[in-house]
Order: sequence, then structure tokens, then C-alpha cells
Amino acid sequence: MSIAQEIDKRKTFGIVSHPDAGKTTLTEKLLLFGGAIQIAGAVKSNKIKKHATSDFMEIERQRGISVATSVMAFNYGGKKINILDTPGHKDFAEDTYRTLTAVDSAIVVIDVAKGVENQTENLVKVCKMRTTPMIVFINKLDREGKDALDLLDEVEVKLGLKVCPLSWPIGMGQRFRGVYNMYENKLVLFSPHGKQSEENLITIEDLNDTILEEKVGEELAAELREEVEMITGIYPDFDKEAYQRGELSPVFFGSALNNFGVKELLDCFVEIAPSPLPRETEERMIEPTEPGFTGFVFKIHANMDPKHRDRIAFLRICSGIFQRNTNYLHVRQERKLKFSNPTAFMASKKTVVEEAYPGDIIGLYDSGNFKIGDTLTEGEVLHFKGIPNFSPEQFRFVNNANPLKSKQLAKGLDQLMDEGVAQLFTKENNNRKIIGTVGALQFEVIQYRLEHEYGASCTYEAINLHQALWLSWTDDKKFNEFLKRRIQYIAKDKDGKYVFLAESAYILQTVMGNNPDISFHKTSEF
Ligand code: G4P
Repeated sequence: MSIAQEIDKRKTFGIVSHPDAGKTTLTEKLLLFGGAIQIAGAVKSNKIKKHATSDFMEIERQRGISVATSVMAFNYGGKKINILDTPGHKDFAEDTYRTLTAVDSAIVVIDVAKGVENQTENLVKVCKMRTTPMIVFINKLDREGKDALDLLDEVEVKLGLKVCPLSWPIGMGQRFRGVYNMYENKLVLFSPHGKQSEENLITIEDLNDTILEEKVGEELAAELREEVEMITGIYPDFDKEAYQRGELSPVFFGSALNNFGVKELLDCFVEIAPSPLPRETEERMIEPTEPGFTGFVFKIHANMDPKHRDRIAFLRICSGIFQRNTNYLHVRQERKLKFSNPTAFMASKKTVVEEAYPGDIIGLYDSGNFKIGDTLTEGEVLHFKGIPNFSPEQFRFVNNANPLKSKQLAKGLDQLMDEGVAQLFTKENNNRKIIGTVGALQFEVIQYRLEHEYGASCTYEAINLHQALWLSWTDDKKFNEFLKRRIQYIAKDKDGKYVFLAESAYILQTVMGNNPDISFHKTSEF
């Protein structure tokens, strides 16, 4: 098979949702269709259980299990599908944000009863930064929920997505009879627990066909006709190119638990989802079909078990063919590295791979060489864009609790930040160090790991901070004046970039209003 065919075969995507919307259940059903797992329940281990939120070691243990499910690959309809796991737990949101930099498309799962929740909003924002194409799956139709039209409104308003329903529910909850699949002109009748048979799939060319009454009853048939007429008037026709440009999101309805509507989603996904796309570097665009191998690290997983203190760096291949035992340039370190045990993930199995293609994700065993965003190439100096740091939400001052171990502390913090556990900011006025994270749990993780892996200890001190935003400017003179005036709010991130530390939304608004020449950014790349 030629490299172009290999690329065309690959669909690399992530499923995003607010916790409990049904991401794990949907993932599992997709894997069942792909034959990657045989029984339901096999993927549950990648889910951090709700009751464990106060026990970070337990969460880390479960996260350890999730290395195997970080990437789940399977073959379906002649395509190789790579699902990248995106932790739903809020404390790992930054992991999820970064994982989304390595996908080519996403499926957004929404609970029909809860509608668009805040984590869904955050994750969709991240997808939109890179105009990642998104398909929306509205789940749990076997339960009572919001009116379908209201939900689409909510998706458009809260998520800012232009939608185009490709299926439409017939009833809901107790009255749920199935969906009308507009993409294939099919009536798909619901039977609980995935017992779909051919009899439940009825092709209807015309919604006025009386077979509709026969199958779903007069009341629901009339409702469906009316609603379909209405939505065809309101929403645009499906346009694959617009979807692939990230400008239009098809919507499906179903019930993952009942394996209902999942096959329709998957069949449409393999047909429309984009194959690996060109990627931007600071230097130039990289086409996936280029012969030279390139890739970037988007996630580092450290094993917290003291007996196996290895790290796995997850690399997304962007162009060419990656080969085992071949020397590649580690651009940041300016040296060659080769990998004897690159790992591929097929469902929950890990295997050593000889070669991998654009769109594939491989795991590289790492003893501390990598940090997030690192690039590997055959020799060209390239820096992939679009792997930024995200504005953290929680902050604390970090203090050295053992003055004899300050070197260890510095080294430990440095490496943990490279792994992307949290972000470190140094205040300009007094050099005090601030750790910023997305979730509170990371503070405990850092303290524990500093002690157990680096022999250093730290304490935290509360700090009143609302947000840290990266700064850019065009006029150096004005910026220097701003720095002088606002020095108590200024810090530098680990790469030396200027950051504004806002104590409140009000201060931020005021400062932004007073300094129109300075831009404030929620990510480190702008
Ligand atoms: P997540 O990964 O997005 O956090 O969600 P997950 O799939 O774990 O689903 C959350 C809960 O919603 C689970 O119930 C799951 O069984 C249920 N669920 C998923 N899809 C559907 C659906 O289509 N209909 C209905 N009625 N429920 C659905 P749980 O009781 O929290 O967990 P479990 O005991 O089933 O594991």
C-alpha cells in the first residue's frame, strides 16, 4: 500500500464530553463494532471513578491503567481508526486539551437531559482553536430530556457551532421509538440493549409513506413529519467540505448504552471524517504525504509506581514513515535519538511497532528527554505549532520546605513542568514562584512526586489570583511603561514569556481597557 493510501485510511479523533455524558460507553460501543474488544465493560478501566476524587494515588493508579487506553486503534470499513482518550475528569483537563492538538476531528457527546455543560464548552473551545471538525452525538434518548430543537439551539448558542442534524429522534424517554436517519433516508427503530436487527432498519424515500404510522403510531408520525419539515427549513443541508473545514457540525441522536444510533454515527464518521491533515510549523506547512518523517510529542505519561519509574512520551506522526531503530533528530536537544521499542496501541494491547504512518500515535519510552511540544524529524529543524499551554485556573505560591534540597526542588519542578503536570510562573517583582494548574489535584501530585522522585519537599501558600494570561504587544516603549506600572502583576512563564496575573475579572477588564495596545491571551501561542 502506498503512503498516500495509508494516510487516506487513517482517521484519528477524540471523543469529548462533560463527565457522565456517555463518552466511555460510546467509546466502548465503537470498539465493539471495530472488533477491538469482545465484551462490554472492557473500557471502563479508563474512567476515573467519581468516588476516588479525594484520593489522588487511587486516581493515579487508575490513570496508570489508562495508558493502555490512551490510544485505541481499530479497523472498520477499510479504515484504521485511532481514538485518542481524553480524560473527562476536570483535574486532567489540560491533558485533554493537549490530546486534542493531536486529533484530526472530534465527536462531542451531549446528554439529552443535561444539554451543553461547562466542560463541553471548554473542550469545544479548544477544538475550535484549530478548527477541528466536530460531529455532535446527543446521547441517552432512552431517557426523558430536553426538546431536540431546544438542544440544537443550545449547541449553536453555547458552543457556537453551526449545526446540521443528520438524524432526528422519534419521541423520547418512554415514548422513544427510534430515529429518522436523514443522511441515509432510513427509519431506524429502537429496541433496547442493542438488539438491532434488519427489521428495525426501514428505508423510506418519502416521509409521507404510511409505513411510518404503521411503525411508530399516528401521533409520533405526525410529529416527526412536522419537525423534519421545520428543521429542513431552518438548518443548512449537509456539506462535507464545510464540515471538514470545521464550519458545520452534523448532529446524530442515539443511546450509547443501548447501542442505538452508534452504528449510524460510525458509518457516517468513516465516510466524512478527515484523514490526517497538513500541520503548521513555525517554519513551513508539513504535508502528511511528504516522504520525510516528522512528529511531535503531545502527552507524557509518568508512571508513579516507584518500581517502574518510566515515562512514555506520546508522539503524533505528521508526515513520512516512522521506523523503529532509526536515528531521528530531537530538534530542541539538537541530537539524534533512536527508539528500539516504539509502542503502538491496538485497543488495550500494546505492541512494538516496526513502522507507523501519519495520523498514528506511538508511545516512546523516555528517561527524561522529552517535553510536551517537542519535535522529531529526519534532520530538518522544525517546530510544530498548535501545542500551547492553556491558561490555568488554580494558583498557589510554592515554597522550598528544605533549604538543603533547593537544587532537587528546582530540577523536580523543571521536569514536572516539562511533563505538563502544571505550569510555573516566576513573579518579576520578587522572583517568587507560582504553580498554576487546571485542577486542585495536581498540587498534591506535585508535592508527592517531588518528595518520592526528587527527594525535595515543598509547601504551598494561598494566592489570590483569577487568571494568568500571556501578553503580546507591538509598541516596545508602551509595553515597558506598562511593565513598570504593573510590575506586581507581571510574571514570566517557564519559557520566559510575559504573563499578566489578574487578581479578579474586574482588574483584568480595567487593565485591558486601559491598555488597548497590549493583547492578553488565554494560551501561550498566539
Ligand atoms: P463518561 O465516560 O462520559 O463519564 O460517561 P459514561 O460512559 O461512564 O456514562 C455515564 C453514565 O451514563 C453511566 O451510568 C452509563 O451507563 C450511563 N449511560 C451512558 N449512555 C447512556 C444511554 O444511552 N442511556 C442511559 N440511560 N444511560 C447511559 P452509571 O450508572 O454512572 O455508571 P455504570 O454503573 O453504568 O458504569
